[in-house]
Amino acid sequence: MLDTALKDLEILPMTIDDLEDVLNIERLSYSSPWLKSQFEKELQNQFSNKFIAKVAHDGRQETAAFIIFWVVADEAHILNIAVHPDFRRKGIAKSLLFFTLNSMEERRVKEVFLEVRRSNVYAQELYKDFGFKEIGIREGYYGNNNEDAIVMALEIKGEREVAFDDEEEQDEGFI
Ligand SMILES: CC(C)(COP(=O)(O)OP(=O)(O)OC[C@H]1O[C@@H](n2cnc3c(N)ncnc32)[C@H](O)[C@@H]1OP(=O)(O)O)[C@@H](O)C(=O)NCCC(=O)NCCS
Repeated sequence: MLDTALKDLEILPMTIDDLEDVLNIERLSYSSPWLKSQFEKELQNQFSNKFIAKVAHDGRQETAAFIIFWVVADEAHILNIAVHPDFRRKGIAKSLLFFTLNSMEERRVKEVFLEVRRSNVYAQELYKDFGFKEIGIREGYYGNNNEDAIVMALEIKGEREVAFDDEEEQDEGFI
């Protein structure tokens, strides 16, 4: 599978062989990272969808990011998205989300939800770019520092108009 914005970006289903790379990204990305066992559970869960993004680096394809989301009937929930710090601000998260929302649309998902830390303004910006709106607050949701979660939702209804830095590459690469 190929997707959008970045040259040589590949989006592939996550397998058990990707676990170490994914755990590394997770630990570099969060103050309270998921445990290995949580990823293992997701890999076994039939409602869970897991993808990694690989990019060309030093002459080989390197795992740069991942996304995990659930689809249950016509609702979806994004549980986790993270990009390796070395590969941030290159449009990888946007590409992964674009891919994910298209895949949800194909599966007739009507609405998608996620939680994001109140302090995580970069992620909130990313989601707002896709049209996600804040629909509520879960007070003290994150146990490690009692931080609130902002609940965001997006109704899925056709064309997405997210801006990539290079629209031509995005148009060419998208399948
Ligand atoms: C949030 C995260 C996934 C973004 O990944 P990324 O690949 O760097 O994001 P992109 O390059 O696709 O940028 C998408 C948009 O996010 C916002 N954004 C991301 N990083 C930003 C930064 N450092 N400063 C300002 N805006 C930022 C911008 O709106 C950006 O769009 P723009 O480049 O057109 O301005 C990444 O920073 C990350 O992994 N963070 C740690 C894990 C995390 O917080 N995940 C989300 C949990 S809810």
